[in-house]
Amino acid sequence: MCGIIACIKTKGLCTYLLNGLKKEDYRGYDSCGIGFIENEKIKTIKTVGSIEILKNKIKDEEFTIGIGHTRWATHGINNVENAHPHISNHGLFSLVHNGTIYNYKDLKKELIDLGFSFYSETDSEVIVNLLEYEYGITLDVKKAIENVISRLKGTFALCILFCYEKRIYFVRNHSPLILGIGQNIFTLLSDVNALQDEKAYINIDDLEYGYISDDSYQIYKNGKKVKKIIEEKEVEKENKNKLNHVYYMEKEIEEIPSMINNLLNNIKNIDLTKIISQIDNAKKLIFIASGTSYHAALKAQSFFDKEKEVIIASEFYTTKYQIDKNNCYIFISQSGETMDVLKSLEYVKDICNNTLGITNVKNSSLYKNTKSQLLIYAEKEIAVASTKAYINEIMLLYIVACNLKKQNVIYYDDLSIISNERKEKIKNIAKTLKNKNNAIFIAKGSDYFLALEASLKLKEVSYIHSEAMYAGELKHGPIALIEKNFPVFVIGDIKENEYLNSAIEEIKSRGGLVYQFNYDHKNSLSFIKIMEEFFYLAFYTALFKKREIDKPRNLAKSVTVE
Ligand code: G6P
Repeated sequence: MCGIIACIKTKGLCTYLLNGLKKEDYRGYDSCGIGFIENEKIKTIKTVGSIEILKNKIKDEEFTIGIGHTRWATHGINNVENAHPHISNHGLFSLVHNGTIYNYKDLKKELIDLGFSFYSETDSEVIVNLLEYEYGITLDVKKAIENVISRLKGTFALCILFCYEKRIYFVRNHSPLILGIGQNIFTLLSDVNALQDEKAYINIDDLEYGYISDDSYQIYKNGKKVKKIIEEKEVEKENKNKLNHVYYMEKEIEEIPSMINNLLNNIKNIDLTKIISQIDNAKKLIFIASGTSYHAALKAQSFFDKEKEVIIASEFYTTKYQIDKNNCYIFISQSGETMDVLKSLEYVKDICNNTLGITNVKNSSLYKNTKSQLLIYAEKEIAVASTKAYINEIMLLYIVACNLKKQNVIYYDDLSIISNERKEKIKNIAKTLKNKNNAIFIAKGSDYFLALEASLKLKEVSYIHSEAMYAGELKHGPIALIEKNFPVFVIGDIKENEYLNSAIEEIKSRGGLVYQFNYDHKNSLSFIKIMEEFFYLAFYTALFKKREIDKPRNLAKSVTVE
């Protein structure tokens, strides 16, 4: 999702901005740009496509105050006009924006009536012109920003240049933004991953705004100065690069066994008593998540004996799901920044504070805004398609469920280590699959939740259309698709499950290709192995199809818009 960066620096600012954008590129983007001030004039350089293309366009520009942006298209197609930064009509302001402005059409109409022109389809260009208009009235940037904030409905993190000042202004509402603190340098960034030499940072909270200059910064809320806690940057572990791997996805699948151990080692030192009683005392558990984390929640809820429900975050708050103060609301998000999850949290918190956040990112918005929190300890996940975080989300909830039931957690490495021989077999299946346009995954019972994730993973990275369904549903419609060599993946024990077997017979008798993936259902955790196999299947298929595995088209690691 969009990444933003801003900085004032006497030497090497261009390199700083480009490196920062590169560090934020895992968020997903399809265009990018920078803006800077030269002799009291704001200039922008933008491009569709990669940061490398932008770098070539910038050549040897020298400047000391600048903003940068990677855009993931929402309002308007992917073109240079819609790329950020946007400049106001008279060139006084330029800004980069992450988020969505819901009332931008009304504001745009108002500004057009006032004589403003628009050159892009974005909601962001409306903000920059509204700012220029408010500045025309107040002749004070801070006041103009305050007026703009009061008029915007939606989510926004903004970094703003004003052509006559050596300051970069910022605002945050629901979209992530941090202020980096280095030696004689202040920066503004979407997330901690983009920090470079800065050793500390401040989390900017909702409706806070302010500025950075070359030697200071100031943060305000509702017109008053606010003092904030300075957080230390965590020392990066050595495993951040790909080492011997070409792709992060492969590296991250391989890390699954060690990340499970990492979680087990860390959780040992955490007192779970409060969280266990929070769950134990709840009437019902409501799990809320998006994408792969939603699939993790579906699988993990089966470990709990209590009354429970799993709801997709985007449905939860938009359909105004009924809140009961006696329930415990469990939010699961690898990034802790998924807007649908955060909106759902906000919706719950208006009525009930019994919330638990499960995330991989300490100090993420989810972590900071839930009553209690648990980390999944999967270390940084870079590939857009989530693998090791999915497993650790389930593992963590399994540990919580075991604690609740006063049972021992039983995990052996061989529940998650795949032999090279098995990998070769999967590679061979991927070779066949690469020439297909469709695939189906079938399963029974809670294996259906695994099928959903296996199917999503294949779709995300290989772009092969894929569906997951209960085995018994195949004959009620989807069987119309089955023809000679149509691939169907079956999860489960066909010896023990005659219903699964009849679905297989139905497929085979129509010439379909059946691939069976079974595991020992007596052990709660042996499903991990077949999920790893499916992750490899998706990975190898994408590899043979020459896809951009770590950053599939149109996808973002962290979707920070609704
Ligand atoms: C995006 C990613 C998915 C991810 C989902 C939820 O759509 O592309 O891979 O599963 O967000 O992310 P979260 O960080 O909330 O787990």
